[in-house]
Amino acid sequence: MDMKIRVHRSPKSLITGVDAITQVGAEVSKLRAKKALIMTDPGVAESGMVETVERPLIDAGIEVGVYSKCVPEPPMSSLAEGVKFCEQGGYDCIIGFGGGSAIDVAKITSVLVGSDASVETMVGIDNVPKKGLPIVAVPTTAGTGSEVTAIAIFANEKLNVKQGVVSGFLIPNVAVVDPMLTISCPPHVTAASGMDAFIHCVEAYTSVNATMHTDPLAREGIELISKSIRTAVFDGTNVEARFGMAMGSLLGGLAFANAGVTAVHALSYPIGGTFHIAHGVANTLMLPWVMEYNMLACLDYFSEIAVAMGENIQGLSVRDAAARSVDAMKQLAVDIQVPQYLSDVNIPESAIEEMADSAMSQTRLLVNNPRRLSRDDIVAIYHNGAVRPESAVAASNGKSKTAKATVK
Ligand SMILES: NC(=O)c1ccc[n+]([C@@H]2O[C@H](COP(=O)([O-])OP(=O)(O)OC[C@H]3O[C@@H](n4cnc5c(N)ncnc54)[C@H](O)[C@@H]3O)[C@@H](O)[C@H]2O)c1
Ligand SMILES: [Fe+2]
Repeated sequence: MDMKIRVHRSPKSLITGVDAITQVGAEVSKLRAKKALIMTDPGVAESGMVETVERPLIDAGIEVGVYSKCVPEPPMSSLAEGVKFCEQGGYDCIIGFGGGSAIDVAKITSVLVGSDASVETMVGIDNVPKKGLPIVAVPTTAGTGSEVTAIAIFANEKLNVKQGVVSGFLIPNVAVVDPMLTISCPPHVTAASGMDAFIHCVEAYTSVNATMHTDPLAREGIELISKSIRTAVFDGTNVEARFGMAMGSLLGGLAFANAGVTAVHALSYPIGGTFHIAHGVANTLMLPWVMEYNMLACLDYFSEIAVAMGENIQGLSVRDAAARSVDAMKQLAVDIQVPQYLSDVNIPESAIEEMADSAMSQTRLLVNNPRRLSRDDIVAIYHNGAVRPESAVAASNGKSKTAKATVK
């Protein structure tokens, strides 16, 4: 049994369930806030959902402002405007309302308001000087788990890479996870952000920093997401599937916030940073190839993942059972039509050397990986996932039309 000193952090309050958003006014009142700023992005604002969070706040006597110009996959240069908006309005609480992008902007705004520091100086672990305004995180994707993590991720346009700010001061005070807010998510966002949630669970489960607190969360997350994701993508109004995804994403967030993510995220950051590919898609491109590599270091864990994914491993050796989980991951991406090869998103093989250099700098994540990775290993993994094999292209032109298509 692992009896080392372990730390498990999460928001003080998690409010979950169908229509949980009705509780947001009471939660903000408990924080003693009087004037709340809802930060969201144009896509979420256009879906007409802002009213669902505004109404309970107004009913609780809270003054409300809305900033709806958060940028998806937020570049660092986009943050200053929202910070100024918050400063000028004199807000005393920030509601991050949206996918991981809007929530991350809300989290970093809370610590940039009234401070001379820039986001660049906060990159890395524990470089945020102090706690800022209270944060209530309300996700509209199932997704990133950002509502419970100590992380905010931004595109550094100067370095062409995504970078993380990691600090306990970024953990939201309250997370409100309501599956009804994800119903309007289009299929391609449901698929890509759902893959991200799934990958958080798998990486947390296989991280060298997994604990007895994170393992059950990650395993349950894998199970819930594996059961729900196809229905959520292709029958988006199915509340049970949306609930399964919202809870799976939340569990994945709680697990990876404490166990860490590993090489899938490390290798996907250069893809997202250089080629502006959505985070969930960039992760999916790396998933099977990193897992094929990692599997040999922890066959038992991978055979358990196969079971959690609903695979029948009866009669299989541990190695074959572990390989079954990787096959199931490949099939999942095919089924929900998320791109699977770098060539699917027009990334040339010539980009691999530079991406490998950039991935090598993601030491914060690589140290969690269950199998050591040299630069040559990283280059080989990128090459494995570089070009869709001819046979798969042929299949996509023939019987199996799902192989090359992507959901819209
Ligand atoms: N902080 C963390 O712990 C953490 C973890 C993983 C990823 N991330 C970051 O989160 C970002 C990705 O977040 P995401 O995958 O949730 O996507 P997102 O927030 O970028 O949103 C994607 C698109 O979906 C739209 N959208 C979101 N919810 C919707 C809804 N309910 N209805 C209609 N449209 C909706 C948005 O307007 C946007 O155009 C990336 O920047 C990634 O690096 C953060
Ligand atoms: Fe992620």
